[in-house]
Amino acid sequence: MTRLAARLGLVLPLLQAGMGAVAGPELCASVSRAGAGGTLALYKEPPARAARLVREVAAATGRPFGVNVVPEVTGPAGCLDQLRTVLPELPRGAFVTSFGLPDADTAGAVRAAGHPLVVQVGTLVDAGTALGQGADVLVLQGTEAGGHLLGRLPADLLLAAVRARYPDAVLAVAGGIATGQDLADAVARGADGAMAGTLFVPAAESTAHPEFKRRVIDAVADDTLITSLFDIGWPRRPHRVLRNPLTATTGRAPATFIATTRVDGRAYPVPRYSAAAPGDGTTGRVEEMAMYCGRSCTRVTARHPAAVTVARLSREYERARRSRAASPGPENATSARTSGSHKPDRTQERQPWTT
Ligand SMILES: Cc1cc2nc3c(=O)[nH]c(=O)nc-3n(C[C@H](O)[C@H](O)[C@H](O)COP(=O)(O)O)c2cc1C
Repeated sequence: MTRLAARLGLVLPLLQAGMGAVAGPELCASVSRAGAGGTLALYKEPPARAARLVREVAAATGRPFGVNVVPEVTGPAGCLDQLRTVLPELPRGAFVTSFGLPDADTAGAVRAAGHPLVVQVGTLVDAGTALGQGADVLVLQGTEAGGHLLGRLPADLLLAAVRARYPDAVLAVAGGIATGQDLADAVARGADGAMAGTLFVPAAESTAHPEFKRRVIDAVADDTLITSLFDIGWPRRPHRVLRNPLTATTGRAPATFIATTRVDGRAYPVPRYSAAAPGDGTTGRVEEMAMYCGRSCTRVTARHPAAVTVARLSREYERARRSRAASPGPENATSARTSGSHKPDRTQERQPWTT
């Protein structure tokens, strides 16, 4: 058992990323029941609805799960408002994940409530700050990751730098994880586990829009790019998305409404360049919306129930660890990422806007 699994009470040392518009109660509870770290995205959820979603998860799993906050988007006060209603609903053993550094009050509130604090960072400096705030687990995000990016280093290099400086820290990597072999490779390089987001976007229980799921399943790594285009609602933070008609255009079209997302019967208009991803309640020109996706999409091939995906990763992880133990040696220290299902290189077949 790795230190990540031990610290958070997981069977498999894998966290499912909290993902706005994607990771609702059903996905979180399914991943949790399967023995990995299911996580509920709170993103911009109003506190009362956030508390209701947490109750739904708690009723659906007896295993540990997490809730994810994004202080950079809600602001420190908004984040504390969410936590004030959510923390009392969390069962013992539930954990809180923060995208980026939380402020001192937020970190303090989580610690005071007795829940493990998991902080995702993208730099060595932020890793030190998060540990100083009392983070129990650091998630080290590499630039391969889907979604908003916290640093400029690939996961391997960030892990090497943080592990060298903080040998005793509990570290998970984020970015590039879609198979049990990927997870075993990360552990062999000094991680205690990993976080995966893109892997779970097409899951049966994910609330991503069906077109978003289809595009992730079809995509290879080079169908993604880093941009700062989708900045309405979350400015000043580059993000990795699937290429689409907007990313192929130079110049900026007017930010008129292109879609509508319905939540609890209320309709929210979505402007062009919104940071919102298309969910199952979105209608309109979803193909122009931000579909966050990591380079690991090359190895994401199916729309399975999350339990099937977690069981597959568990088998692959154990197999990779056994084969590493059977033939230790420098040549086996990190294996090439050739395992798992890969998609053919479709460079020649892409749509015009993906070139
Ligand atoms: C569709 C999508 C939405 C995301 N939304 C969030 C979010 O709301 N909160 C968060 O902490 N991270 C979010 N992330 C980033 C993840 O925490 C993580 O860094 C990333 O998923 C890891 O890379 P991978 O997607 O290649 O596995 C999102 C990622 C994706 C793909």
